[in-house]
Amino acid sequence: MAEKTFVTVHVPATTANLGPGFDCLGLALDLWNEVTVSLEGQGINIEIQGEGQETLAKDDSNLIFQAFSLAARKFGVDIPKGISIVCRNRIPISSGLGSSSSAIIAGLIAARSLFSLNMSDQQLLEIGLELEGHADNIAACLLGGLVIVIKDGEALITQKIKINHILATIALPQVQLSTRQARKVLPDQYSRQDAVFNIGRTAALISALISGDYTYLRSSMEDRIHQPYRLGLIPGAQAALDAAYEAGALGAALSGAGPSLIAFHSTADNRILIEMQKSFDQEKIPVRLFSTSTIDAGAYIK
Ligand code: HSE
Repeated sequence: MAEKTFVTVHVPATTANLGPGFDCLGLALDLWNEVTVSLEGQGINIEIQGEGQETLAKDDSNLIFQAFSLAARKFGVDIPKGISIVCRNRIPISSGLGSSSSAIIAGLIAARSLFSLNMSDQQLLEIGLELEGHADNIAACLLGGLVIVIKDGEALITQKIKINHILATIALPQVQLSTRQARKVLPDQYSRQDAVFNIGRTAALISALISGDYTYLRSSMEDRIHQPYRLGLIPGAQAALDAAYEAGALGAALSGAGPSLIAFHSTADNRILIEMQKSFDQEKIPVRLFSTSTIDAGAYIK
């Protein structure tokens, strides 16, 4: 039987933290990139359509290629002399919507499939963690739905939680904010009160998402670990979160490290989108808005 020479991987956007679950909660969103990796030609050929087509690396520093080759090396496979990668991207870059995690997961799944690697999902995530540094986005991208991720020594433990489907509005202000910058502003230590504040809310948030009872979603998405330090880096962000609530959002938070914001709602409602837009308009910050929803599916091959 001929060996497989190409594969197309579909990878979802993800939102991490959801307010209090810093570095521990990730949630997949119904917004997808498609990545086709083919073992053909000579050298590395990378074509990018859509998001990041002007800015993403098209040489061996490309994150999909980095993940692909790291997986191959870990399993003792020689990198073939010709590799083509074609990306059809819908996930905005550097936005807090997990675009780098989607690239890493696409590269790792492509390598697992094309080289028939005996790599479990857990091993795949542990390799991904080496490239990403935190596991919330990569875990939700791979597994879909709501994922809780913790570390036990070097081992990653993930738990996918079945939740009710919920609609989401994303506001992505055009503000340059890398995850690195957004992590740098965080303190090294927190008070016991702040720890208790977040622990209780993380538990309440997961319970609300499982049950579909969103009565206390707003207070469950408050946070004292990262948002108070990050929101000030994004002009208009706090006002936009307040505006989302005014317009009827059930819960709202910074998406991952930002600069995107995510607001959840149970019925299709443009008011949230319009009011969030107005907040950024007042700061004269251009903003992109997306309507999406949570999705139970994670990365898949088709
Ligand atoms: N948990 C990470 C952070 C997610 O907040 O820094 C980065 O998207």
